[in-house]
Amino acid sequence: MAMGFSLYLFLLFVHLALCCSWIQGQTLPRKTTSDVNQVSGKSFDYIIVGGGTAGCPLAATLSEKFSVLLVERGGSPYENPLIMENKNFGLSIVQTDEYTSVAQSFVSKDGVSNLRGRVLGGGSAINGGFFSRASEDYVKRVGWNKDMVSDAYMWVESRNAFKPKLTPWDYVAELSLLEAGIFPYNGFSLDHIEGTKIGATIYDEQGRRHTSADLLTAGNPNNITLLLNATVTSIIFHKKGNRNETIVRGIRFIKSDGSSSQTHEAYLNTQNNSRSSTGDVILAAGALGSPQILLLSGIGPQKHLNKFDIPVAVNLKCVGKGMQDNPAIAFVPEVADSKPKNFPPDSPKVIAIADDFKLIVGSMILPISFNATIMLISGKLAFPESEGQLELNSTDPRQNPSVTFNYLATEKDMAECVKLGRLLEQIVRSKSIAYFLGVEGKRRNESMSTDDELRKLCKNNVGTFYHYHGGCTMGSVVDKNYRVFGVEGLRVIDGSTFLESPGTNPMATLLMLGRYQGIKILQEREKMLKH
Ligand SMILES: Cc1cc2nc3c(=O)[nH]c(=O)nc-3n(C[C@H](O)[C@H](O)[C@H](O)COP(=O)(O)OP(=O)(O)OC[C@H]3O[C@@H](n4cnc5c(N)ncnc54)[C@H](O)[C@@H]3O)c2cc1C
Ligand SMILES: *[C@@H]1O[C@H](CO)[C@@H](O)[C@H](O)[C@H]1NC(C)=O
Ligand SMILES: *[C@@H]1O[C@H](CO)[C@@H](O)[C@H](O)[C@H]1NC(C)=O
Ligand SMILES: *[C@@H]1O[C@H](CO)[C@@H](O)[C@H](O)[C@H]1NC(C)=O
Ligand SMILES: *[C@@H]1O[C@H](CO)[C@@H](O)[C@H](O)[C@H]1NC(C)=O
Ligand SMILES: *[C@@H]1O[C@H](CO)[C@@H](O)[C@H](O)[C@H]1NC(C)=O
Ligand SMILES: *[C@@H]1O[C@H](CO)[C@@H](O)[C@H](O)[C@H]1NC(C)=O
Ligand SMILES: *[C@@H]1O[C@H](CO)[C@@H](O)[C@H](O)[C@H]1NC(C)=O
Repeated sequence: MAMGFSLYLFLLFVHLALCCSWIQGQTLPRKTTSDVNQVSGKSFDYIIVGGGTAGCPLAATLSEKFSVLLVERGGSPYENPLIMENKNFGLSIVQTDEYTSVAQSFVSKDGVSNLRGRVLGGGSAINGGFFSRASEDYVKRVGWNKDMVSDAYMWVESRNAFKPKLTPWDYVAELSLLEAGIFPYNGFSLDHIEGTKIGATIYDEQGRRHTSADLLTAGNPNNITLLLNATVTSIIFHKKGNRNETIVRGIRFIKSDGSSSQTHEAYLNTQNNSRSSTGDVILAAGALGSPQILLLSGIGPQKHLNKFDIPVAVNLKCVGKGMQDNPAIAFVPEVADSKPKNFPPDSPKVIAIADDFKLIVGSMILPISFNATIMLISGKLAFPESEGQLELNSTDPRQNPSVTFNYLATEKDMAECVKLGRLLEQIVRSKSIAYFLGVEGKRRNESMSTDDELRKLCKNNVGTFYHYHGGCTMGSVVDKNYRVFGVEGLRVIDGSTFLESPGTNPMATLLMLGRYQGIKILQEREKMLKH
């Protein structure tokens, strides 16, 4: 034991001495850096853009056989207690700034405030941590291989999913869902099944968050070069004479802090001086980031690219189309004056899947500032029809593109929202909640809202569960293997490829997707070698 320890110290010393400029972090790959010069001009088998929810498991999986460059615009989550500790749940999204906060805010053209992760771990570093698999029906609809999907979920769950400990409020919320008639009661389950259930969480028993970044060491971390605090600006194509081809050569990137306008490049390894690489550049920059990078690279609708003087590489009309966000509404239950107003933050753990999977409802206690929280009974439409689009608003990759979701634009969505409102009202007025919050006496006399009132509420108060997706949807921007149409050596693997959200909260499915597609790429390469 003692010998093992001193050997370890010795190795650590050598390690530090050899690469003093790499950032040291127990859980990060050895070759992690924020110094763009250490990566500039280098070549890799695969380049992944975005160290988010899908990007990290994908990088880990490809690293089992290949060298991988993973570029993330934000920093490491590990030193940030607002991200890592359950007692600080929600605090990382309370304050945002334009270029450095780990949560980047954006307001869609619909006027709804929204958020994106800007840190290694992406959405999984700032989200509610609620972990639930997609339904079998969804897996079938997308056309995924059921067994590979199941293996990939298990690979993720063995590291990142935990059974939560319920707080008194969670128990009350659970009772209120059952009181509203959302049955059966399924207890703790990873599956997306009708009724009321307790889902898994990425916070462990000690209250520590396990973001997707924890997966980076699950492959061969020595094959991963992780570049943090660098923003990818565009994709580089090979040139033939003075013509640009649509064969991908690499990526361009800048420092995220804006301290220098200098652009750097990294490349894909090629074989025998041919133009083709066997690896790919893979975008995993999320539903806003991936379509944005395609557009900045000249892959998108010609008319739109012309507006920004971006030379057209591929006139791919559907880039930025099919943007969806699940409309959400929330009620704040009344709390008696005699009760304390500020409950501690409480991440979502109990959820109800109602009305033939169309409505998802749950509860959480969210900070609204560093010293105040709000208790919410909220719900979303699982499968809205309404969709919108994403367009560039600037050629600066550090700025948000402009997005419209067209929440509740169709009558069907509006009618479902009214249903959701009625259900939420029933839950908020349940005996369980009224008793817990000391308003039992007041409860019975209040009449329920009318349809008209609920329509107004939906129209004026529609919000988000942050499950937005689309922009590089399968079938119009990428094929079944997530390859971008009309370009060689380019894929997109993240929430931008979803035609619909997995019904439930999407994080678990995006973690799974990174692993699943990584395995498929490894298998594809193995087949190629045999031929
Ligand atoms: C506040 C909030 C709460 C949520 N709660 C839950 C929940 O409880 N359960 C659940 O299942 N889902 C939840 N979600 C949704 C879920 O987290 C997201 O759907 C999911 O994380 C998206 O994964 P992704 O891989 O598509 O993108 P992301 O995880 O967003 O990854 C994209 C990554 O790319 C990086 N990037 C973007 N552009 C560039 C660029 N140009 N160069 C370099 N890097 C770039 C980003 O910084 C980011 O790290 C929540 C989301 C939010 C925002
Ligand atoms: C990746 O790791 C494997 C296993 O350690 C090793 O055999 C392989 O050479 C590495 N590949 C590259 C390209 O670094
Ligand atoms: C990376 O960026 C984050 C966020 O702006 C910052 O906190 C961190 O210090 C940066 N890291 C380095 C090594 O520059
Ligand atoms: C080729 O690509 C470069 C950079 O992307 C661009 O500056 C140039 O205008 C393109 N040329 C053509 C002919 O499209
Ligand atoms: C590269 O060249 C070597 C030796 O000339 C040859 O054996 C190999 O098949 C070539 N590989 C490819 C992918 O063309
Ligand atoms: C919360 O903090 C703000 C400033 O950060 C302060 O103005 C306010 O009085 C505080 N409220 C409570 C209830 O402590
Ligand atoms: C687009 O950019 C302009 C100027 O930078 C800004 O005023 C505007 O709010 C942006 N629009 C959107 C939708 O982001
Ligand atoms: C409820 O209504 C009844 C009859 O209208 C009234 O007597 C009673 O005071 C009301 N209770 C509360 C708590 O408002």
